[in-house]
Amino acid sequence: MKVAIYPGSFDPMTLGHLNIIRRASRIFDKVVVCIMVNGSKDRAMFTPEQRVDMARRVTAHLPNVEIDYYNGLLAEYARRFDHPVIVKGLRASMDFENEFTMASINKKLNPDMETMFLTASDKYTFVSSSNVKEIARHGGDLRDFMPRELIDEVTEMARKEK
Ligand code: PNS
Repeated sequence: MKVAIYPGSFDPMTLGHLNIIRRASRIFDKVVVCIMVNGSKDRAMFTPEQRVDMARRVTAHLPNVEIDYYNGLLAEYARRFDHPVIVKGLRASMDFENEFTMASINKKLNPDMETMFLTASDKYTFVSSSNVKEIARHGGDLRDFMPRELIDEVTEMARKEK
């Protein structure tokens, strides 16, 4: 069985993430969306448990997608799978620099894994979790950026943060 791991902070999950998950689920037998900690990002808006719950709800219609959480190195997490493929979405050249570096580090730490990139659909090249949070904090319309079922939670959390 060919397994893809799609790692990220998913704080929160956007339509761009969901697009990558849907496309990866058509290529691989199983896609494990792994919610992780990004050491270079500030405190998350949602706890890991909340992010897992949100991710499960918006992928419930995709039978070969699983959601997991791991607080550690991706290269270590990947050891539980046989020759796993890491799937990442690439939105623009700025993503490429960082993703290329991460893929090289991960390969060094665990030579068994490969990283593959899916280019973001042109509808979502400008969508990121950071943008979504910024829009929510200022009361903007999130419908083109986020799964509908998560909008109220993000709006409410942004309101509480004020
Ligand atoms: O959605 P993000 O924040 O761009 O995802 C980045 C993430 C979480 C995939 C990356 O930070 C990560 O792999 N974190 C786990 C720790 C790790 O393995 N870091 C890479 C070696 S420095």
